[in-house]
Amino acid sequence: MTKKGFIFDLDGVIVDTAKYHYLAWKKLANSIGVDFSEAQNEQLKGVSRIHSLEKILEWGNKILTKEEFSDLMGKKNDDYLSYISKMDESEILSDVPQVLNFLIDNKQCIALGSASKNARTILERVNLIKKFNAIIDGNDVSKAKPDPEVFLNAADALKVQPEKCVVFEDSIAGIKAANIANMISIGIGDKEILNEADYVFKNFTEINSEFLLSLINEERKVKIDSLLQGNDRKREIK
Ligand code: BG6
Ligand code: MG
Repeated sequence: MTKKGFIFDLDGVIVDTAKYHYLAWKKLANSIGVDFSEAQNEQLKGVSRIHSLEKILEWGNKILTKEEFSDLMGKKNDDYLSYISKMDESEILSDVPQVLNFLIDNKQCIALGSASKNARTILERVNLIKKFNAIIDGNDVSKAKPDPEVFLNAADALKVQPEKCVVFEDSIAGIKAANIANMISIGIGDKEILNEADYVFKNFTEINSEFLLSLINEERKVKIDSLLQGNDRKREIK
């Protein structure tokens, strides 16, 4: 059996923390008189804390001093930490443990590839940290998604070539990063939003073992594509 690298984003893929980032950013944006919509939030998913604040300031035409900027970054994180301080295993998204266990049983390599600097804390809190062979998070990278650095570092840590890696992502930026890294990109969420992904599923309950085995056994991204009908690279398994 081939050894592939399976790289998981954290927020919105493994745990339901995307909603906490949204609430914390909305509170912060509103506090400085900037409107913040769900559509704008989609553009912040997968994006580092610093770039997220830069975008919010740009949208609201605000200019801050360095001190004000770092003060707001601290406030957002404090607010976010207060949400996640109560987290437990119940906030793991449906079927994530089953998928991780299936991959482990099939001797696959598993990594985390997240922009979050809070990733380890969260994985420990929900008791999943031991499932990962490597963890690359916001503390390990200098370039934010859509730059592929986080996923290339994860592949490197797993000692698996990028083209033998599969990425699970809920963000537009993360899907772009996976595609640039020449990895198979699997969107978790809305197929209209994640339309650049190779495959899109609403959540892990739609991913079956047959599909996971096809990912494990296919040699290259191009061969996986040839499994699909016609020219359409994307499909949704019901
Ligand atoms: C990403 C989230 O995983 O991590 C973003 O999708 C978040 O919303 C980013 O801004 C950085 O997270 P943190 O925990 O370091 O502020
Ligand atoms: Mg995410």
